Amino acid sequence: MIISVVTLFPELFHVFLETSMVGRAVEEHIARVDLVELRAFGLGKHKSVDDTPYGGGSGMVLRVEPIVAALEAIDERAAAGGEPAAHRVLLTPQGARFAQPKARMLSAHPHLALICGRYEGFDERVRSFVHEEASLGDFVMTGGEVAAMAIIEATVRLLPGVLGNDASSTSESFSDELQGALEYPQYTRPAEFRGHSVPAILSSGDHARVDAWRRAQSLERTHARRPDLTNKDRSST
Ligand SMILES: C[S@@+](CC[C@H](N)C(=O)[O-])C[C@H]1O[C@@H](n2cnc3c(N)ncnc32)[C@H](O)[C@@H]1O
Repeated sequence: MIISVVTLFPELFHVFLETSMVGRAVEEHIARVDLVELRAFGLGKHKSVDDTPYGGGSGMVLRVEPIVAALEAIDERAAAGGEPAAHRVLLTPQGARFAQPKARMLSAHPHLALICGRYEGFDERVRSFVHEEASLGDFVMTGGEVAAMAIIEATVRLLPGVLGNDASSTSESFSDELQGALEYPQYTRPAEFRGHSVPAILSSGDHARVDAWRRAQSLERTHARRPDLTNKDRSST
């Protein structure tokens, strides 16, 4: 999988891409992340990427031309290398809220382009040149880079071979195996800590009973914490 990231601050990604699971996926050529610096597509001798808003108002708006030029350059480079064009995702608090079903859908694309905004956001016409818009949640950040990292992390870990034990992504919160519910409680040693004991059933060696207990715990916890997940129509996920 290729992930192209359009950003004014590629340096924000350096440690992220070298570390942990994403770093391993890159090293093992399961994923490739191309950082595309928006400034390189800026206009004039100052490589300008933003301008004041029509109609007045505070702050600056990202211009449409540099962003479209960056997206076209990504696809041209891909075509030259025999790679697929990118599925373009605009990062904006106005997009559809990113969640696990979307991570699964995005992980099926061979090439994603994540477009990080800054300042007051994008010229509205940018929206005509992307396939979808994604938000990390109902809050406003200064830029799209943290959202891009979250999407990269959630998406790349679903690629076959990235997690040491592929089962660890199939029986976790929001997974199909748990019918979209939250994961059951997990414990490790010690068996007792300051009066808090590990439930005895987990040391019983009876796998069928452990599975039944986990399923019940998963449902109970989902009902208590996220009742919205309990009756969700999952047919579209
Ligand atoms: C300060 S925000 C612009 C917000 C915009 N003026 C609005 O009210 O919708 C700058 C950039 O940060 C990114 N951003 C901020 N919050 C985000 C969120 N919740 N999800 C995804 N991206 C976000 C977007 O790329 C956005 O263009």
